[in-house]
Amino acid sequence: MTRIFREGGERVFDPKYLPKALPHREKQLDILKKVVTEGLDGSHYSIPVLYGESGTGKTSTLRKVLTEIKEEREDNIDFRIVNATTHSRTYVAIQHIAKKIVPIPERGLGIDEIITKLYDRLDIEELKYIVAIDDGDELIRRDRGKILEILTRIEEGYERRLIYPVLVLRKMEILSALPPHITSKVGGPRIEFPPYDKKQFKDILKERIELGFNDDVVTQNAIEAATYAAEKIFLGNARELLNIVFKAGKKAEYEDDLTVTSEHIRNAIYEIYSKTMKPDIVSDRKKEKIVYRVLWTLTKLIHDQPDIYWLTEDILKAGYDLYTRNFMEKISFEEYIETIEEISAGRSRIITYDEGQLVFLSYPAKRLYEDLTRILFLRG
Ligand SMILES: Nc1ncnc2c1ncn2[C@@H]1O[C@H](COP(=O)(O)OP(=O)(O)OP(=O)(O)O)[C@@H](O)[C@H]1O
Ligand SMILES: [Mg+2]
Repeated sequence: MTRIFREGGERVFDPKYLPKALPHREKQLDILKKVVTEGLDGSHYSIPVLYGESGTGKTSTLRKVLTEIKEEREDNIDFRIVNATTHSRTYVAIQHIAKKIVPIPERGLGIDEIITKLYDRLDIEELKYIVAIDDGDELIRRDRGKILEILTRIEEGYERRLIYPVLVLRKMEILSALPPHITSKVGGPRIEFPPYDKKQFKDILKERIELGFNDDVVTQNAIEAATYAAEKIFLGNARELLNIVFKAGKKAEYEDDLTVTSEHIRNAIYEIYSKTMKPDIVSDRKKEKIVYRVLWTLTKLIHDQPDIYWLTEDILKAGYDLYTRNFMEKISFEEYIETIEEISAGRSRIITYDEGQLVFLSYPAKRLYEDLTRILFLRG
């Protein structure tokens, strides 16, 4: 038992964990379920496409819908979600698809023979097989959609439809590059998965925080920082959100802290992002000293109050106070604020605007404070 994670709580951060709820994906879930259900009921079926950037919930929505359909329906249904990045060749993907239903020797059979074995088995068992080609961009680009043709050729020789393909792509553009006879098969709804924003991320985090962490362990400011970083730095990717919150939790646990703070979140962001993206804080070399000094005063304030996220008026004033006490060269409060604004305009995201207010986001305050102390006071 730890003070940070609930017993067994870490599992909700495992990529394989399928959350009970998928907030802000209700519409996508309904559309997909309706299309597949109608197809299974014997109506016309045309392949639907789920598309959107990484971490927008495509695979999770797919898993949820297919699991529900299989559980809820009386007819004989099975499904397979093929990760087309790991199974990136048509032959390998087809083999993987067939293997779940019928034994296939590792080598020796051609695609046509495998497919015939699969169709025959599906036909005999009156099995309806939903096959999702997940992350299909590369595979589809490479085989020009041949896999879809193979999976739909089926209806031609049999009484009924045996396979119900679903296509998942990062980018829709790939479809327009396919031969028309294939594009015409992919005539189902295009279901968009837009990137999440901060507010949506708060809803998404709820289940993981409730099930993963002990009560009141994750501070509100940690949530603010994580959800904003996921929107602004990680471009709406839910996987990155969960990753930084998990990493922050591990760090808090390792350090024997009682809570997960915004500084733990900054540490996680640093590990994943800032470390590799050397922050370019100073654009104007002449201003280097003043920028470093201003950041030093702020990080001095924050480094032993690790849950500070919002740079409120009070903090800015206290920072300015520190500035006048520590440095001989005086600047006005306006210049002090201007310097902070300039930092926020850069790419570093050390200081940025969230909900119209300045915040300290992408860099651990303690680390920056120590680095700047070295640069400003101990160098030469
Ligand atoms: N609406 C949501 N609610 C809760 N968790 C979510 C939601 N959307 C995504 N997630 C979580 O974010 C992670 C990434 O989601 P998922 O794998 O479904 O994204 P994806 O769109 O398939 O990404 P990729 O294109 O990289 O495969 C998973 O751990 C998933 O549980
Ligand atoms: Mg996916």
